[in-house]
Amino acid sequence: MMNSTAIPDEAPFSETVFLNEPSTEDRYRIIYEHMGRIGSERRVGNLLLHLANMARALVAADRCSVWLADWETDTLWTMAAHGVSEIRIPLSSGLVGYAVQNGLDVYIDDAQNDPRFNKEVDRRTGYHTRSILVLPLCGSNGKVLGALQVLNKRTRAGSFTQDDIRHLQMVVASASASIENTLLNEEIDDTQREIIFTMGEVGEVRSRETGNHVKRVAEYSHVLARTMGLPQEEADLIRTASPMHDIGKVEIPDAILKKPGKLDPEEFKVIQGHAETGYQILKKSSRPILQAAAIVAHEHHERWDGRGYPNGLVGEAIHLYGRITAVADVFDALASKRCYKEAWDLDRVWDEFHKERGAHYCPAVTDALFAGSEEILRIRDTYQDN
Ligand code: C2E
Ligand code: SIN
Ligand code: SIN
Ligand code: FE
Ligand code: FE
Repeated sequence: MMNSTAIPDEAPFSETVFLNEPSTEDRYRIIYEHMGRIGSERRVGNLLLHLANMARALVAADRCSVWLADWETDTLWTMAAHGVSEIRIPLSSGLVGYAVQNGLDVYIDDAQNDPRFNKEVDRRTGYHTRSILVLPLCGSNGKVLGALQVLNKRTRAGSFTQDDIRHLQMVVASASASIENTLLNEEIDDTQREIIFTMGEVGEVRSRETGNHVKRVAEYSHVLARTMGLPQEEADLIRTASPMHDIGKVEIPDAILKKPGKLDPEEFKVIQGHAETGYQILKKSSRPILQAAAIVAHEHHERWDGRGYPNGLVGEAIHLYGRITAVADVFDALASKRCYKEAWDLDRVWDEFHKERGAHYCPAVTDALFAGSEEILRIRDTYQDN
């Protein structure tokens, strides 16, 4: 779910090249440059990256690591750190553990001779820690979120100063509130994603015995969105929402949905109702993910030429999310076996999209399908039906 980031070392640490102590002006400029971004980041990983870079510059440290506490497994892990990828240590270990468990700052000139220092981390990273400053990141109601740690002061004197501590305390206090909010937002987003995915599977289980249809449509939609150049966040939103496209099938009787052969016109009318039903189920929520899902459920059977359902919308009057999901959904329907049809050969599938580009399907989305075909086929192979 959450990945850790190793921030590249830009300039190697040198025992002989010293930095000057940052002036007060330097410090305020550094805070000013970073704080806005820290306050507006939605992703906790990006936020901690800015925080680590700011802290390092602010106190002329060689490196900074931001540790998050996982109280369920009693571990501390580096979510953003200079020069190292993820490290996990027990919550009770080392200076960071001490700071987190006691909610206290730790300030040391000679880590190697402090009994609380966990030499194991240096051994694993090949780093040599001398001076060190650790500040706990405190959330609301006393909960400790983790700790910020700066290593090896790069001035000639080589020790962190009272000024360093004061400035770091200042930024850590306000960054902690941002971190807490961001973690909470990510949890809400993750929960929504899970619920939506599960609901999508419910719709699918009704119509098919096996399969990864929901998963594939999500991933295809994501590839199409990215290939079309949509921003990462929007592509992610489409990936999350697209599995919901057939949720309205929950209302379709089994006798129709699972009919082995061709539907008669009456039966097809009933099936077509799933677009409107899905929309009615989802449209009540004002959450962005569910709003996107409502659009997808409503418009994934509209056609570019206006001959689709339920509303016969034409061209760009069909929401982009609907046009993207339509291509992802049909690609998967054709390339897979259904209770009412065999899987098509790939050549025949590509022919269908060439033929129907600009008729059934939005031209730009169809072009993205062709351009992204390599990745599309990789997804198809990864999530095969059993
Ligand atoms: P689905 O199986 O998820 O299919 C989604 C869409 O893929 C279909 O929307 C259609 O646009 C396309 N598609 C699927 N199979 C074929 C095919 O053999 N040829 C072509 N040209 N396109 C195909 P559509 O038609 O609106 O159908 C919506 C849903 O209605 C389908 O979802 C499926 O659950 C059901 N359905 C459609 N046709 C039949 C059928 O003949 N028998 C049964 N039992 N169900 C059907
Ligand atoms: C720097 O101080 O800008 C890079 C040095 C490092 O992270 O090792
Ligand atoms: C749709 O609008 O996707 C259904 C019409 C068709 O099967 O081409
Ligand atoms: Fe559908
Ligand atoms: Fe579908």
